[in-house]
Amino acid sequence: MTDDAKAEGAPLIRLPEPSRTGAVSLEETLARRRSLRAFAPDPISLQSIGQLAWSAQGVTDAATGYRTAPSAGGTLPIEVDLLLHGVPELEDGVYRYHPVEHALRLRLPGDLREAVTASTMNQGFVGDAPVVLALSAVAARTEPRFGALTARLIDMEVGHVAQNVSLQAVALGLGTVVVAAFREAELAAALELAEGERPIYLMPVGRAA
Ligand SMILES: Cc1cc2nc3c(=O)[nH]c(=O)nc-3n(C[C@H](O)[C@H](O)[C@H](O)COP(=O)(O)O)c2cc1C
Repeated sequence: MTDDAKAEGAPLIRLPEPSRTGAVSLEETLARRRSLRAFAPDPISLQSIGQLAWSAQGVTDAATGYRTAPSAGGTLPIEVDLLLHGVPELEDGVYRYHPVEHALRLRLPGDLREAVTASTMNQGFVGDAPVVLALSAVAARTEPRFGALTARLIDMEVGHVAQNVSLQAVALGLGTVVVAAFREAELAAALELAEGERPIYLMPVGRAA
C-alpha cells in the first residue's frame, strides 16, 4: 500500500482551536528555553498537542496558506509527524499534521518508540517523551524554484520550525530538545516516510521529570 493510500484510509481528526494569546511572554520563553532530556511520562493534552503542531506549521494566512514559520519562496517543503502515546482521545501511533485543516491523520498505529529511538543511536530519552515531533522535508517542492540551493534552504527552514516548537513548548510548561543525531535511512524506514521525504529533526516533548 502506498503512503497516500494508507493516509486516505484514516479519517482526519480535528484538533482543538489553537490559542493565539498566552500568559507567558516571548521574552520569558527565550530566557527559559533549555534542552530537556528527562521527561515525565504524563501524557500531553490534545489541546497542547494541537498547539505544538500549530507552532510548527499552523496556517496563519488562509489566502496564501502561509504558516507560523517562514518558507523559502513559500514552497512549504516541511511535513510534521507526531508520535503520540497515552493521549486519552487518540490511539497510540504516528500521526501526520494537516495544517490547512488543523487536523491529524493516523499513519501508523502502534508503538514505534523503540524503533525510532534505536535510529538515534539509542538516545534513550527520545522514547521517554509522551510526544515526539518528526520534522521531515520534501525537497521536490523547493527544487524547481531553487535548484542547488535547496538542501541549504530546507535546513534553514527546519531550524525556524524547530525554534517555534521549542518556544511554544516552554509557553505550555513543557520542554524539548532538537535531535539530529540519527541514521537517516533507519529513521525514514521506521516512520515509513514516502520516497523523497527526508527526516531532519526529532523533537521529543514533555514535562520535565
Ligand atoms: C543542529 C543541532 C543538532 C542537535 N542534535 C542533538 C542530538 O542529536 N541529541 C541531543 O541530545 N541534543 C542535540 N542538540 C541539542 C544541543 O546539544 C543543545 O542545544 C546544546 O547542548 C545547548 O544546550 P541548550 O539547547 O540547552 O541551550 C542539537 C542541537 C542542534 C542545534
